Amino acid sequence: MGKARPADPKHRSREVTEGPERAPARAYLRSMGLTDEDIARPFIGIANTWNDVMPCQINLDRIGKKVREGVRAAGGTPREFMTIAVSDGIAMGHEGMRASLVSREVIADSIELMIHAHGYDGLVTVAGCDKTIPGSIMAMARLNVPSVFTYGGTMLPGRYEGRDVTIQDVFEAVGAFAAGRMTAVQLDELERSACPGAGTCAGLFTANTMASCAEALGVALPGDAAIPTIDPAREKHAVRVGAAALSALELGIRPRDVLTYEAFENAIALDASMGGSTNAVLHLLAIAHEAGVTLGIDDFDGISRRTPHIVTMKPGGKYVMADLHRAGGVPVVLRRLLDAGKVHGGALTVTGKTLEENLRETPTRIPGDIVAPVDRPITPTGTLAILKGNLAPEGAVVKTALVRHLCHEGPARVFDGEQTAFGAARRREIEPGDVVVIRYEGPKGGPGMREMLAMTAALVGQGLGEKVALITDGRFSGATRGLMVGHVAPEAWDGGLIALLRDGDPIEIDVPKRIVRTGLTKKETDARRKKWRRPPPRYRTGALAKYAKLVSSAAVGAVCS
Ligand code: FES
Repeated sequence: MGKARPADPKHRSREVTEGPERAPARAYLRSMGLTDEDIARPFIGIANTWNDVMPCQINLDRIGKKVREGVRAAGGTPREFMTIAVSDGIAMGHEGMRASLVSREVIADSIELMIHAHGYDGLVTVAGCDKTIPGSIMAMARLNVPSVFTYGGTMLPGRYEGRDVTIQDVFEAVGAFAAGRMTAVQLDELERSACPGAGTCAGLFTANTMASCAEALGVALPGDAAIPTIDPAREKHAVRVGAAALSALELGIRPRDVLTYEAFENAIALDASMGGSTNAVLHLLAIAHEAGVTLGIDDFDGISRRTPHIVTMKPGGKYVMADLHRAGGVPVVLRRLLDAGKVHGGALTVTGKTLEENLRETPTRIPGDIVAPVDRPITPTGTLAILKGNLAPEGAVVKTALVRHLCHEGPARVFDGEQTAFGAARRREIEPGDVVVIRYEGPKGGPGMREMLAMTAALVGQGLGEKVALITDGRFSGATRGLMVGHVAPEAWDGGLIALLRDGDPIEIDVPKRIVRTGLTKKETDARRKKWRRPPPRYRTGALAKYAKLVSSAAVGAVCS
């Protein structure tokens, strides 16, 4: 398996805790109640993204405590610390959303620095939102100390007018209200019932997608992704996670032993089979970059083409993550893919066993209709597609899950930034047939590559979901549905052709042919390019300005190192 076996379980912390010159460090440890025995044990850092800012983090202190118990019982000394976390749901639709993707880098950096500074021997990351999951796994890959990832768990769906609802319904209701299709009283009732408690956004949006990918990558224990946060099984699982960190340390299994190209193929296949978020493209590219694995944006298209879409989940389908948990969780999906030869069973996981070994006891019969048989899939190919063409020579990403219109030709309606587009939608100025173009929202140009959920949900809420298309150098929430093409690269800020578009320009999107292009002649685009000037940066100081200077193209994961 080619894994590096550390010389001893205190392979890093020994330098911090032993010898007369480390008396000051030990004095600090003793001041916090650590005994001689605690100090002599391996130190396991627990990087927790807890806060009481958002429902997906608010329970993570409880999970962290259980991980500590597991670490202690298995012979380690836990040292827990927090990172920042940004709630996409609360930041969505306003200037604050520019901080979201930036937070992924800050989370990875802060975990790296804490482990580096304190010489911890192993790591458990506890996370529960869109950026906290990839940020945590990026840090694991970067540090390459024995590590386990664990998830905070999904929220249950709310109930409104006799049906399950999630935050997606609330975003779409904003558009329905603006269009007069919903009353203020109905909107208020929905707002009060959509999110019934703690946990991550309930559908297969980005957090649940990335937690599922963590299982497929092999950095999380089997069954980690789908247990709801309020289920007592989540706490029992967290104790096992703590013990697993010690076991990984003992076995010498490091993240890069697990994060191989095959592991990424498995994660992409799982995402494509489930109709997961397009953000997985960005995040898996970034994790691969940290792990030193050569993964390209075109790999997503190839893997998706050979993977059937077999799981029906919101935003396009009818089920939520808690439903998948009742059906057996991510292991039953992986087992179905494994039996069909769609994932690599030989990939090593953090348990010390291969994916196939982990799945040996997993049932092959799945209750209900949430997971289709591979020979009777929802669609024979997966739900991620990478489009190319003169508008996106480096690539653009689209999710096809339960999208009916996959080909669209229409005139461009061009907006510099999301707010102006959203204003036009609110004034009902978007017409059926339009291709809404939202630019200067890329990693550098935003900066921060905002998600366009407020806009896409407004279009769906107005009944335009199947009648318009949208392209952007920004990105989408996992709750977005419809023909929405994101991550257009090069972005407008870098002078990509998207920067030169004007209202009325002809745009063609053909997903089966993987095309996103404008019919403008080269003569015309050359003439426009001569007049194009990059707009001034939105931020000249602070974290957003620093990020804009460092970040790479979305086509390679929008990474900063
Ligand atoms: Fe954190 Fe949705 S806002 S999971």
